Amino acid sequence: MKPSLRTFALLMASLSAASAAFDCKTLKIAGHAYDLSALARDVTLVSNATTPPTITGTKYTLNPCSAIKGDGDSVPEIDRCPADSWVCRSVTNYKGKEANRVTEVNAVAGGPKSDREPKIEAKTSGDDKPKEFHWKMQGISVDKVEWKTDIKFICDKDKKNDELPVVKKFEDGELELEWRVPAACALGDSGDGNKGSDGEKDKKPEDDKGDDKVSGRGFFSTVFSFLFVGFVFYFVLGLLYNFFVVHATGLDLVPNLAFWREFPYLVMDFSQHIWDIVSGRRRGGYSVV
Ligand SMILES: *[C@@H]1O[C@H](CO)[C@@H](O)[C@H](O)[C@H]1NC(C)=O
Repeated sequence: MKPSLRTFALLMASLSAASAAFDCKTLKIAGHAYDLSALARDVTLVSNATTPPTITGTKYTLNPCSAIKGDGDSVPEIDRCPADSWVCRSVTNYKGKEANRVTEVNAVAGGPKSDREPKIEAKTSGDDKPKEFHWKMQGISVDKVEWKTDIKFICDKDKKNDELPVVKKFEDGELELEWRVPAACALGDSGDGNKGSDGEKDKKPEDDKGDDKVSGRGFFSTVFSFLFVGFVFYFVLGLLYNFFVVHATGLDLVPNLAFWREFPYLVMDFSQHIWDIVSGRRRGGYSVV
């Protein structure tokens, strides 16, 4: 009994982790939908500082939607960020004609074997769609200091999505960036300008309708995924129970086998019943009371 219970627990943990995966395309912030997938790529920011007798180059590589691909084999492994880094910081020292030396490299977000995910935070006032939000993620611990990244996204429709983020500061292991892009605007916001001629008053209700649609879709897909996950749990737990406790094999592993064998007939029966009611027909021997 004990090992089977542990299996249940492991299974549940892994399933819930899988269903909570960070998805740039379907972000919900204060109940509004956002899509950052236009920014899903490795972005590289480089800057040089004069530090006599050398030049210190700092490079940040980041992807807000997934772990970065990084430099790959073009850079020696010791000079690369660990696997599963989402934001990588590397510092290179240049000294005249001498060979360059990478003096620092580490994950400011993500890192090896981390199941960390970005967290989205926003301040909201009432029902307003947030125009700004923070993308926060932990990185690696260095000398007991937890490195982390905080990207402040600002909705800006005058910019393009290939706009680069700006490094605000890196202090005590915390990297702060600011990123002004249209992708940081709530969905259902972009159509407003084109509706033009009806003027300000008519814009508002249309805007609200758009919101309802978005949250409605969110609600149904949430209910559906709950049902789906519930069914998977039921099925897998039933299988495990039959295997470990009942010691069943083969087809008998299927939970409630008798019921599922009957199920197609039950569905047919039921739909026949509904059809009879809807069409007003009553069949022979019995009637619905
Ligand atoms: C930084 O300085 C190095 C050495 O002078 C140079 O090779 C590199 O291109 C510079 N990078 C930038 C972004 O200016």
